[in-house]
Amino acid sequence: MSVPNLNWPLMENNIVAADLKAVVAFLQQETPPILTQSSQVKLFEKEWSEWLGVKYSVFVNSGSSANLLTMAALRETAGTGEVIVPTLPRVSDIASALQCGFEPVFVDINPRTLGMDTQQVLEKITPRTKAVFLTHILGYNALDDILLNELSARKIPLIEDVCESHGATFHGRKLGTFGLMSNFSFYYAHHMSTIEGGIVCTNDERLYQFLRMLRSHGMVREAESVELKKSYASNHADLNPDFIFAFPAYNVRSTEINAVIGRAQLKRLDENNQARTDNLNLFLETLNPEKYQTDFITEGSCNYAFTLVLKRANPIFRDNVETTLRQHGVEFRRGSSGGGNQLRQPYLRARVGTNEHKKYPNVDHVHFYGYYIGNYPTLERQKIFALTNLLNGVPEDVLL
Ligand SMILES: Cc1ncc(COP(=O)(O)O)c(C=O)c1O
Repeated sequence: MSVPNLNWPLMENNIVAADLKAVVAFLQQETPPILTQSSQVKLFEKEWSEWLGVKYSVFVNSGSSANLLTMAALRETAGTGEVIVPTLPRVSDIASALQCGFEPVFVDINPRTLGMDTQQVLEKITPRTKAVFLTHILGYNALDDILLNELSARKIPLIEDVCESHGATFHGRKLGTFGLMSNFSFYYAHHMSTIEGGIVCTNDERLYQFLRMLRSHGMVREAESVELKKSYASNHADLNPDFIFAFPAYNVRSTEINAVIGRAQLKRLDENNQARTDNLNLFLETLNPEKYQTDFITEGSCNYAFTLVLKRANPIFRDNVETTLRQHGVEFRRGSSGGGNQLRQPYLRARVGTNEHKKYPNVDHVHFYGYYIGNYPTLERQKIFALTNLLNGVPEDVLL
């Protein structure tokens, strides 16, 4: 029997001819342009801030760097302590907290959003909690009113990792505008791409100055505030004001070329996101709810991936699903986008003990029985039907 190949990668055509043309036009100016961080980066930050609805954005070379700067800025402004993190984020969410001297405190996921379980977050708050570092997984909003109200009442800062959820909303307002700081990634696999790239956003002027300095070696001249620069210069009269290093920091700058691509991409983002949302709805509507989880809370969601989670923990069915996807050329990642239950990963097992992961059954289910499959604007409806048709026909009890 011939097996139709759906030829379905995790991401397709995310950097298009128009983006490359913008780069070529930028490079071919009569006076050769500056390529290191300069006016294009500044413009991209301004346009991104306007699109998102925040005052300040700091463009960096990856979403992981955005995570790192955010944790470093928290450390410099609030000191170290505990940070509540999910068990299903990207490694860099937890690694950045550890690298900046925070103690991560873990919570299980809400299966209907894949984000943190609000009740568990609230239970884990202690006097040492410095922030809740929440990840919106694969386009699903992870916020709710109880969480926002409680954090605000207890004066615990919320930090949002929106690396997988550009354009998603809660109560009609874009994710990434609720937290004290928020992070986005522009890696190729996401809603929009600058090849590699990331951005930190905030409405807090002081944090903005710190983030700018942290991006470039902790160098004070990178701050925009004249008063802040003056105060460092007068407190350190023995130093050249061009070379005052306020913090042990990093160089995570990006380049003008990446910013040019970002500016071109941003023009198409909303339109692309609408196509992705339509695709996800079709996928979930046509998937068999007896076999797969279809009751995700999709309100306000904006996904660059289809979330495929098996209803039951059935290893035979799982192997059959994987065989079917492989046979039909559909690329997938088991454990969702970040590799599943982070507490099973060697970098954490060594710290938290080898049995800790057992306390988080919801994330463990996704670890073994949850997948992500690419969702991009050019996907045709027939292809989505063909995929759900295939998946609905996968046998549950006899190995293929
Ligand atoms: C939730 C989340 N946070 C952070 C990152 C890190 O972004 P990057 O790959 O740009 O370093 C990713 C990347 O995929 C992510 O999905």
